[in-house]
Amino acid sequence: MLSTIKDLAANLAPRLTEIRRHLHSHPELSGQEYQTAAYVAGVLSSSGLQVQELVGKTGVVAELRGSGVDSRLLAIRTDMDALPIHERTNLEFASRQLGIMHACGHDVHTTVGLGTAMVLAQLGVPLPGTIRFLFQPAEETAQGASWMIRDGVMQDVTSIFGVHVFPTIPGGSVGIRYGALTAAADDLEIIVVGESGHGARPHEAIDAIWIASQVITTLQQAISRTQNPLRPVVLTVGQIQGGRAPNVIADQVRMLGTVRSLHPETSANLPAWIEQIVASVCETYGAKYTVNYRRGVPSVQNDPSLTQITESAATEAWGSDRVQILLEPSLGAEDFALYLDHAPGTMFRLGVGFDDQPNYPLHHPQFVVNEASILTGVVTMAYAAYKYWL
Ligand code: NI
Repeated sequence: MLSTIKDLAANLAPRLTEIRRHLHSHPELSGQEYQTAAYVAGVLSSSGLQVQELVGKTGVVAELRGSGVDSRLLAIRTDMDALPIHERTNLEFASRQLGIMHACGHDVHTTVGLGTAMVLAQLGVPLPGTIRFLFQPAEETAQGASWMIRDGVMQDVTSIFGVHVFPTIPGGSVGIRYGALTAAADDLEIIVVGESGHGARPHEAIDAIWIASQVITTLQQAISRTQNPLRPVVLTVGQIQGGRAPNVIADQVRMLGTVRSLHPETSANLPAWIEQIVASVCETYGAKYTVNYRRGVPSVQNDPSLTQITESAATEAWGSDRVQILLEPSLGAEDFALYLDHAPGTMFRLGVGFDDQPNYPLHHPQFVVNEASILTGVVTMAYAAYKYWL
């Protein structure tokens, strides 16, 4: 079966490159993937799949019906949105949308999803069970997965596979991670309210700027002294506003930040932990405060037995020297995690790096993918989907 899948994928390779380049030159922002969705739906229905459009706002769902011998349902999820970045790659198929770019490889993910559907549809024999392909919008804004889930895409799903490109892994290689792949990412807003006064007479005021600086410092120190160092926490205050004039003591400071963690228990305790620190600092100096902690996405926790399936699929297909077992998770976030509240799943990393040219990071205006990775991604995903039923 592996050689059949490899042959089918190799025959489709020129078409898949064409698809990927079309997607790359026509990027759309999160939640506005109308043309992308229509294009994806067209490719899927011409490959003989049952297609549903406008699922999760601008998402597409397609099913490849199995023989029914196995009642399980496997979902394969890819994402379709691009970023508000002005592309500077000089590729002949660079973005034609000013200020919008596929700089996170979602054009490759969509192509891998389509290629997998096309290969499995051409196998000639039905698989034992049904595969549901999810083409998700708005991953970059962490909204798309919840839109899709709200529209019922996880109904009856037993397991889910996903993929994300990675420029530090060479093109043609696959990265496999057991356990935590990405971090939980939450939004934080802290407002410190003091009392205004003359800049020369601090004792008659409550200086919100100085207290806010104590809040930030105390939070950073408390991470190192009160959080388990083996369970990382990153707290970044990325935006701060306060004050009106150089000689007027500020009565209010607003801080916005992101909070990342890997361990579910740590993640669960973070809101109360932050609130307690903010409260103690503010109360010490007489300020009032508000803490708004908004849950973003949880950590992607790869299921061991499903990860084993993708690892062995990749190893059989490409040899162990092209399969990297990743020893470290990323503190980036991925809304694939939300599907995992409904069914176990796993996500592999697809290497898109070059040996002979610079590899820019994801979300960089010069980010370029090694297109050899498309075939690697399609074969790995299709073969893993085949092995799922064994
Ligand atoms: Ni991405």
